Amino acid sequence: MRTLSGIQPSGALHLGNYFGAIRQFVSLQEEEGEALYFIANLHALTTVRDGSALERYTTAVALDFLALGLDPGRSILFRQSDVPFHTELYWILGTLTPMALLERGHSYKDKLARGFGADHGLFAYPLLMAADILLYRADRVPVGKDQKQHLEIARDVATKFNLAYVPGYDPQDPEAREKKHRPGILKLPEPLILDSTAVVPGTDGQKMSKSYGNAIDLFGTDKALKKQIMGIVTDSTPVEAPKVPETNTVFLLLKLFLPPSDIETLAESFRRGGTGYGAYKKQLLDAFHAAFDPARARRQELEKDLGAVEAILRDGAERAEAIARPVIEDVRRAVGVTGR
Ligand code: ADP
Ligand code: TRP
Repeated sequence: MRTLSGIQPSGALHLGNYFGAIRQFVSLQEEEGEALYFIANLHALTTVRDGSALERYTTAVALDFLALGLDPGRSILFRQSDVPFHTELYWILGTLTPMALLERGHSYKDKLARGFGADHGLFAYPLLMAADILLYRADRVPVGKDQKQHLEIARDVATKFNLAYVPGYDPQDPEAREKKHRPGILKLPEPLILDSTAVVPGTDGQKMSKSYGNAIDLFGTDKALKKQIMGIVTDSTPVEAPKVPETNTVFLLLKLFLPPSDIETLAESFRRGGTGYGAYKKQLLDAFHAAFDPARARRQELEKDLGAVEAILRDGAERAEAIARPVIEDVRRAVGVTGR
């Protein structure tokens, strides 16, 4: 079983990234098999247009990952750009990808709909992501719900490649369980989506995102954190009045930190009334500190030795490349670009 995922270094990591992605990365490394996690710095080029900022964000994500419990002894942690096969496979896949498939991409479509001119990087974004995954023959890809379409595109493109280049490949039987079929060169990945926390709301009630200015950052200063949490937008229901938990941002965020048995108690407290949003926000702030203070302290320690972090990334890139090499060689052979 091979698990792989990536995260863009396009800004500070937030609660949505943790509950939607990183928490799963950390727990999956306990399981049997291999886990690869990478910092998708080439993807981040679609939004970050400042070289030194991108370098800083990349180091920051590596620190965040390590502080939150990714263990380079058990997982392979690397920078996407350190393994150049990603962009090679991306190009090859592009020659098999109908325009219409990428034109359906959410982020591309949204940008056009909002009246912005989209560039080729954004258009081709899902294809680079497909290459990231297919290059390692990943079995499963833990991601937030918003990435589901990208996984479908990766599966689609893998199928197109196999159909084009593997005689005897049958998309109904991709692993060739039947003797008359042949297995694909590229493996179809499965998304792994945690439904209970599929979309973490931001401080304005919309999906939490780095780009919406509604994030609660994992590693901000105490002061910034307090400001973000106390600034969660709530309605004007008076303290004593009953409140509806299901649609309330503070409830939905607080829920993430509670054991299942305490969630119903909290919901009852909302319905009963008598507690103001300020008190719930304070409870959320305390829960955040209890959950993340150990990681926050660890990150400060790691920051003192960036050379060690760089060494972890380089070692990760070598291990990743060793896994990817036979795959890209199979691909080159199939398409006829083996060369020297
Ligand atoms: P952002 O929207 O802040 O730029 P990314 O797109 O870089 O976040 O997402 C990184 C990972 O975190 C992805 O797996 C994504 O699905 C997950 N993720 C991001 N925001 C949320 C959210 N609000 N709820 C759940 N998961 C999220
Ligand atoms: N697009 C993903 C995101 O924004 C990041 C990413 C890039 C990724 N390549 C990937 C995730 C490959 C999983 C697998 O969250």
